[in-house]
Amino acid sequence: MSNKVLCNGTVTGNIAIGRRFGRLKLQLDEVGSAAFLHALPGQFAEIDLCSAALPSRENIPAELADAAERQIILRRPFSFCSVRAGDDGLVEAEFLYSVLGPGTLRMRGLSEGDKLSLIGPLGNGFWVPEGKQYALLIAGGMGAPPLEHLAGFLKTEYPEIEVVVLAGAKSREDFPFRLEDTGKTGVETHVATDDGSAGFAGFVTDFARQWLGESDWEATETVIYSCGPEAMLAEVAKLAAEHDVNCQVSMERMMACGIGLCQSCAVEVRTNGEGETAYELCCKDGPVFDSGKVIFKC
Ligand SMILES: Cc1cc2nc3c(=O)[nH]c(=O)nc-3n(C[C@H](O)[C@H](O)[C@H](O)COP(=O)(O)OP(=O)(O)OC[C@H]3O[C@@H](n4cnc5c(N)ncnc54)[C@H](O)[C@@H]3O)c2cc1C
Ligand code: FES
Repeated sequence: MSNKVLCNGTVTGNIAIGRRFGRLKLQLDEVGSAAFLHALPGQFAEIDLCSAALPSRENIPAELADAAERQIILRRPFSFCSVRAGDDGLVEAEFLYSVLGPGTLRMRGLSEGDKLSLIGPLGNGFWVPEGKQYALLIAGGMGAPPLEHLAGFLKTEYPEIEVVVLAGAKSREDFPFRLEDTGKTGVETHVATDDGSAGFAGFVTDFARQWLGESDWEATETVIYSCGPEAMLAEVAKLAAEHDVNCQVSMERMMACGIGLCQSCAVEVRTNGEGETAYELCCKDGPVFDSGKVIFKC
């Protein structure tokens, strides 16, 4: 699946969500619009933030003051949380980001009219297996963006599939979206927090175990989609195996090139042979993998 292009995006919005998160809207040029219009949820873009300016000094959190000084050379990978064509035919792509280092700090400093270079769409994206009637989306922390895209995609492209989202975070401040906005998506959404400050008190995987135990969804007609920290994905994979439910996980690796050249993003997977494993590339063969195939590193 490779119709990737090098294109430009113009910032049309950049809203801060709390201290650590932001939502960036980019209007893509004609080349980008043609390529991204049919991007699948779970695919991603490599964004060049090297020449973007840092936010003003008072808007740089103290713990990132040293990171702010670091020059960046490589593009940074980001999945999209929505992709829509406007009346003029140009695509607006939205990204949800967490401010962690020099690249995402620069993302926070972007304002309307700024231009960025992107390569994408990259990777494989989530797929819908035959005969599914139910989809359970399990997001952990910054795993939310591709699952937000997927929820919207399933609603429009597969209206016959019943979709439920379970989103987890350490506490109510750690969601990369406003909790009051979850009701506006038109998709049944529940939250869980490790410290019990919002929704179910406990890990989102414990909530998912309880939810699956109580639901009347037929296992053969159900698919689980998940994105989040690797330890959480390992638990989701276990849960899916216990319930004999098909499950896809979106993996994260440090990515230098994003296009299959540098081999920096290996994911160990089971092959057909008994106990045999091999390495696949997260950027090219993934980032979405069948959960039963992945050897999780945790
Ligand atoms: C396929 C894919 C999709 C992604 N989608 C999103 C998204 O939608 N929103 C978002 O905010 N982030 C996303 N990320 C992560 C994002 O790419 C990194 O947070 C970003 O590159 C950090 O850049 P930085 O220069 O700000 O910080 P850096 O200084 O590069 O990193 C800050 C910290 O984050 C860790 N880190 C950085 N990148 C990764 C990674 N890929 N895997 C594990 N740890 C990492 C570093 O080890 C370091 O501790 C995605 C990553 C991948 C691989
Ligand atoms: S990031 Fe270079 S091969 Fe995957």
